[in-house]
Amino acid sequence: MHWFSFLTLALAVPSSALVRFHCSQLVTERLDPLVDPGLVPSSHVHQIVGGNSFNSSMDPEKDMPGESTCTTCQFTEDFSNYWTAVMYFRAHNGTYKRVPQLGNNQFEKAKGGLTIYYMQDAIYDSKQVSKVTAFKTGFRMFIGDVRARTLAEAARYRYLTYVCLDTWTTRSPETIAFPGRKCKEGIMTSLRFPTCWDGKNLDSPDHKSHMSYPETGTFESGGPCPATHPVRTAQVMYEVVWDTKPFNNLEWPADGSNPFVWSFGDATGYANHADYVFGWKGNALQRILDTQNCQFNTNCIKESNSTTQTIDKMNSCTQKAAVTEDIGVDSWLTELPGGFQAEYGPGSA
Ligand SMILES: *[C@@H]1O[C@H](CO)[C@@H](O)[C@H](O)[C@H]1NC(C)=O
Ligand SMILES: *[C@@H]1O[C@H](CO)[C@@H](O)[C@H](O)[C@H]1NC(C)=O
Ligand SMILES: *[C@@H]1O[C@H](CO)[C@@H](O)[C@H](O)[C@H]1NC(C)=O
Repeated sequence: MHWFSFLTLALAVPSSALVRFHCSQLVTERLDPLVDPGLVPSSHVHQIVGGNSFNSSMDPEKDMPGESTCTTCQFTEDFSNYWTAVMYFRAHNGTYKRVPQLGNNQFEKAKGGLTIYYMQDAIYDSKQVSKVTAFKTGFRMFIGDVRARTLAEAARYRYLTYVCLDTWTTRSPETIAFPGRKCKEGIMTSLRFPTCWDGKNLDSPDHKSHMSYPETGTFESGGPCPATHPVRTAQVMYEVVWDTKPFNNLEWPADGSNPFVWSFGDATGYANHADYVFGWKGNALQRILDTQNCQFNTNCIKESNSTTQTIDKMNSCTQKAAVTEDIGVDSWLTELPGGFQAEYGPGSA
């Protein structure tokens, strides 16, 4: 689908007043320049989108937009890298296969990847007029906890959720754990980052503490940022559509346990997490965030003088995996890459 027909399509659905765009898959492999810089391979499998300068070690001082020669994102000035863990299906006999990704609603032609939102106000606010600050070159952040295996541990993070897609456009209810039933059209994960920045640090040792949630209320309710993290940033959100359909007809685990497992072994779903490495060129993101009344399909692109590319063009930007190993695309694995097995947490038998 070409960008133009996307715009036409977008006009036909209830307007989402914010920047919502897709990025096709760049590469899927065990690399993690944020948490495991320089480690080849890193601990677990990730699926990565964005600029093709993605690498095992990404120096914050490095000019990422300048090093990329293409991006898998619709905005041609967005050379950021966005990534998450990869979902696996665990069969009745205990072997694993990678759950493929789909292009999401309105981006069906995209090769996997994920959908990105940048919001000035709540997703349901049709005006999007609040002033928010874009991130700076070298900025990166992480949300979630790979060790979380209980609801209490997951509850420290807001809005890392799952939706069981009964239809292609189901968006609720959202759960914090993996859906406990077969989902007709797949599983969507939604990952929202905190929106208050300390205004100084581009990163922090845990990749989280330079960011904070609002002191009271939420980003959606316009809650104020705490004095320690006074700068209100855009709300960054990812949506990932996991194609669980092909697994609905296979035999599920005999003990009734959840068959879906993250690439690092979490089978509860509580350890859902996401990584962000900012890489927009120049002031491209700030120009978009300064657009008043930012209706994606009307004002944002034109008024911010942004340029976009077709989905075919996005799909053509790929990167050869630096780590070559069987990640369970066509074959069934006896363990997850990196040696992980499914873990069901303290609450399970
Ligand atoms: C990755 O980064 C290293 C160190 O900066 C560099 O030597 C190497 O060429 C890069 N690899 C790619 C594929 O860009
Ligand atoms: C394990 O289960 C999968 C899915 O049903 C099947 O395709 C595969 O052949 C099985 N492997 C073994 C070793 O039985
Ligand atoms: C977009 O381009 C026009 C024409 O060059 C210019 O007047 C306007 O200031 C630009 N807007 C932004 C946000 O850069």
